[in-house]
Amino acid sequence: MKFFIDTANLAQIKEANDLGILDGVTTNPSLMAKEGIKGTEAINNHYKTICEMVDGDISAEVLSTTFNEIVEEGKKLAAIHPNIIVKVPMIKEGIKAIKWFTDNGIKTNCTLVFSAGQAILAAKAGATYVSPFIGRIDDSGWDGVQLIAQIANIYSIQGFKTEVLAASIRNPNHIIQCAEAGADVCTCPLEPILGLLKHPLTDIGLAKFLDDAKKM
Ligand code: G3P
Repeated sequence: MKFFIDTANLAQIKEANDLGILDGVTTNPSLMAKEGIKGTEAINNHYKTICEMVDGDISAEVLSTTFNEIVEEGKKLAAIHPNIIVKVPMIKEGIKAIKWFTDNGIKTNCTLVFSAGQAILAAKAGATYVSPFIGRIDDSGWDGVQLIAQIANIYSIQGFKTEVLAASIRNPNHIIQCAEAGADVCTCPLEPILGLLKHPLTDIGLAKFLDDAKKM
């Protein structure tokens, strides 16, 4: 399973990248706004900076909602760096645009996916990645991890090449469950990634070893 970090915060991207386990970055308009990135030039420069920091797939989200505008915006985003993945919302115009990008060699991440049916459409259009938002599904009383397993199973049966990118990860257990459910990628904020490191018995064991080492 690939690890992406889900943030536009450069310090957090650096910290995750320095661990040596980072395969890419996802952002969205909310995450960009949180970092105070405003205006097309600043947005594009931010994506370029991220691409120069991390050698992996970097999702950049379109803000348009009509086919022609999504295609024009996506072409510009893709021109920023070869590692840019154009992130397109799961709407009718978005599916048409994903098919256009697929036919024209531009990689895509179909975002805001909440059902297996949406994931089938994204795969049919040739999306490189599909992003089910598992935390938001859990928030609404459904089971996000179960959706990851269902989509992974459908893609396997049907031979779809689209990779399942589990998004809206809230905690380390989500990451473990997504790995078990067959996700190809997990995109997480820094905290759940660092949370995987933690176990009290590791801390207790290390303290004892370091203490005993003084007697060696
Ligand atoms: O990048 C999309 C997704 O990860 C958003 O997560 O926590 O806002 O539901 P969240």
